[in-house]
Order: sequence, then structure tokens, then C-alpha cells
Amino acid sequence: MAERPRVVVTRKLPEAVEARVAALFDAELNPEDEPLPRAALAQAMREADGLLCAVTDAMDAGLVGTDGRRVRIVANFGVGVNNIDLKAAEAAGVAVTNTPGVLTDATADIAIALMLAATRRMSETEAILRSGGWVGWRPTQWLGMGVQGKTLGIVGMGRIGAAVARRAALGFGMRIVYFNRSPVGPFDFPAEALPSVEAVLAGADVVSLHLPGGGANAGLISAERIAGMKRGAYLVNTARGDVVDEAALAAALESGQLAGAGLDVFAEEPKVPERLVRLRNVTLLPHIGSATLETRTAMGMLAVDNLEAFFAGQPLPARVV
Ligand code: 8YV
Repeated sequence: MAERPRVVVTRKLPEAVEARVAALFDAELNPEDEPLPRAALAQAMREADGLLCAVTDAMDAGLVGTDGRRVRIVANFGVGVNNIDLKAAEAAGVAVTNTPGVLTDATADIAIALMLAATRRMSETEAILRSGGWVGWRPTQWLGMGVQGKTLGIVGMGRIGAAVARRAALGFGMRIVYFNRSPVGPFDFPAEALPSVEAVLAGADVVSLHLPGGGANAGLISAERIAGMKRGAYLVNTARGDVVDEAALAAALESGQLAGAGLDVFAEEPKVPERLVRLRNVTLLPHIGSATLETRTAMGMLAVDNLEAFFAGQPLPARVV
């Protein structure tokens, strides 16, 4: 039998995925799940044929183009590939793949959960209860905003954006407006395309972000654009933290320009700005958008499909570069 391709897996993956990786490849797994230091990633780039990595591995130009590189494919566990320098990969002739589609529903569910948590003040009121501060029910206590008939603005109407919009339109009776840089649709629910991000921000009661991080999108939701949102609106981010100016968001939550926010992603994970942690009107989740056993297994399987197809010389199911 020909020698099996050597694959380094940077993080611990669901059992079924690791079993398949071990059956197909000469695999180096990471049962302790300690993030690999840069030097270990560089060594993997020199010694393996393929790398299965995740959002926590910063595959910058230096790593992608490591001297004496042997790796020919970087299979990312995740749909977002902002942790990988794609230009460097292209220049070096390294294939990059991702895992679109399989995490759409799980991530859309978390976006909806964050919208409801923010508009119904769940984190704030739960904290009060847990600290013993709930001294009795009152008719005018902790009133939030009902979402029915309100406008949800989607920035980035790809698979996940559309899945959030569908849930909001059909499940909650919300009106949907969206901006996408290229034409999309038609959809199986009512949704109105608007000509700019600013138009969506100006018209929405809740804004949900579903666009890739990095590049031109970094800092897109700036102080100026937040000032252009409706006063008392809500912001939900399940995309990438760097899309939002976190200091500007904290200021808007402090001043009441925004009534609340729900965040699953942060610019410098796992660091969360202290100013946001101190605020009551923001729900903060530790990047759990795709964190179900079903979804993380499907993501791993798709990453392995990509590796298997690559080494068999077949078309890649989800090629980015
Ligand atoms: C992943 C994600 O958990 O797929 C993505 O882009 O943000 C998450 O679903 C993470 O990226 C894993 O690498």
C-alpha cells in the first residue's frame, strides 16, 4: 500500500472525526487540545502533507510560506478563513479549504438567541436574580422590546444571514431588510435589499452581522456607522469580532444610542474588552455559534472530505484557494 499522507490536526476534534482522520491518514492528533505554538505549526508545515487547523491557529504569511514547507493543503475547521493568509497561500500554491453549509443552522440559532437575549434583557435580569436582587414582580419591571413587526437588518445575506432572516420573518413576523455586496435571492420569505450598509443600519430595530472578518470588513461597524443606527436599536454579531469597533460599541451601549447587543465573537479572542464585560445590556458568549456535537462533527467530516479529495487528486468539496 502506498504511504498514507501525513496530516497534523491542530485541535482535539469530535471522536468520530478523529477516528476517520486516523483511519485515512498517518495522523498526528492533539488529544490534550493545547493550542500549537507557532514553532510547532511551522514544524507541521515542514513535516506534514496536510494541516487540519481552526480559528485559533493564526496561519500568517510566514507560516503558510514556511521554508522547506511540505504541506500542500490547509483544511480549515470552520467557514471563516480570516485566520489564514489567503494571498500567501495562493502565492505559495497551498490549497485552502473551509466548511460552509454545515454550520448554517447552528449559527443562525445562536444569532436568534442573541437577538432575543438582547431585546428581552435576559443577561441583565438573570444577573439580578442570581445576585439575589429580585425582590418581587412588578408590571413595569425590566420591559424589553417585542420583535414582532419590527425590522431586522441583515448585513451579509449569505447562507447564515438568510437562515437568520428566514427564522425572523417566518417565526417572529419581523420585516427583513438587508445589504449584500452582490445580488442574492430570491428567498422563500419576504426580504428587501437596500443599497448600502448605512441604509440597513438606519432602518433596522435589530442589526445582525453575517459577513467575513478581516480585510475591508475590519472596523466596518464604526463609531460613525453606529451613530447612524436608530437610537435604541440592538446589534447582534455572530460573524467576526473585528467587524465591529468594540470601543465604539461599548460607548454606544453606555450612552443609550444602542439599547443592547448580543456578541458571540470578539476582535482578540479569548480577550473580551473589560468595558463590555462591565455592561449589563450586552449578552456575551464565548464563540459558540457552531458548538453542537452534530455541527462540529459535520464540520470535521467536511474538513476530512476536503483532505481526502485533495490527496486522491479529486475536486475539493469546499475550496477557498
Ligand atoms: C467555528 C466559526 O467554531 O466556522 C466559523 O467560521 O466561526 C465557528 O463556527 C470556528 O471558526 C472554528 O474554527
